[in-house]
Amino acid sequence: MALAFKFEQITPRELKPAVLELDGISRETVDAHYKLYEGYVNKRNEILTKLDGVDLASGNQVYSELRALKVELTFAVGGIKNHEIYFEHLGGEGGDPDGAFAQLVERDFGSAQAWSEDLKATGMAGRGWAWTAYDWDEGRLFNYIGDTQNTFPIWNATPLVALDVYEHAYFLDYRTDRSSYIDAFFDNVDWTTVNDWVSKYQIPLK
Ligand SMILES: [Fe+2]
Repeated sequence: MALAFKFEQITPRELKPAVLELDGISRETVDAHYKLYEGYVNKRNEILTKLDGVDLASGNQVYSELRALKVELTFAVGGIKNHEIYFEHLGGEGGDPDGAFAQLVERDFGSAQAWSEDLKATGMAGRGWAWTAYDWDEGRLFNYIGDTQNTFPIWNATPLVALDVYEHAYFLDYRTDRSSYIDAFFDNVDWTTVNDWVSKYQIPLK
C-alpha cells in the first residue's frame, strides 16, 4: 500500500526581469540563488515520487526511510518557498517601507528604523534566513531567525519579507561582508509587492 496522497509535479517559476538588474546584487548572485532554487524544485518532485512508493504495510522498517524523506522534503520545500518570496519582492526601489506594510511596522516595531535594525541584526545572527512574518495568533509582526530554510518557522504565521543570508547570497559581491549585502537587500525591496501580500492575506491593520 502506497501513501494516501496525491501531488503534482511542479516547475520553477520564471524570474521577473527586474530581479536580474538589482542594485548591488549582481546577476551572477541571482543566478546562484536560481540554480539552487531549481535544484529544490527537482528535489521536491523527486522526494514526493519516492514517498508515493513507500510501502506503509512493511511496518517498522519503513519508518527511518519515511523520516529521512519527510525531513528532506521540508528542506526542499523551504528552499522553494523562501526563494519565491525573495525573488518576488526584489526588483523595487527599496528604502523605508510604505503603504500598509509601513503601518504594520510602525505599529509593531515603533518605527521603520527599529524594524530594519532588528531584521538586519537577525540576518547577521542567523545562518541562512531572516523573515518578517505576521503571526495570526499574536496579531503582530515579528522578525524570525532561520539557520536553514526549514528552521525555525512557526505555525500560523505568514512571511512578508524573506532575507536570504546564506553565503551564496553575498559572497560573490561582498566576500565576507554580509552587512553590506543586507544594506543592498533593503535597497531593492519592492514594497508594492509586499503591500499586495498584506492585502491578499487580509492582514488586519488595526
Ligand atoms: Fe538563496
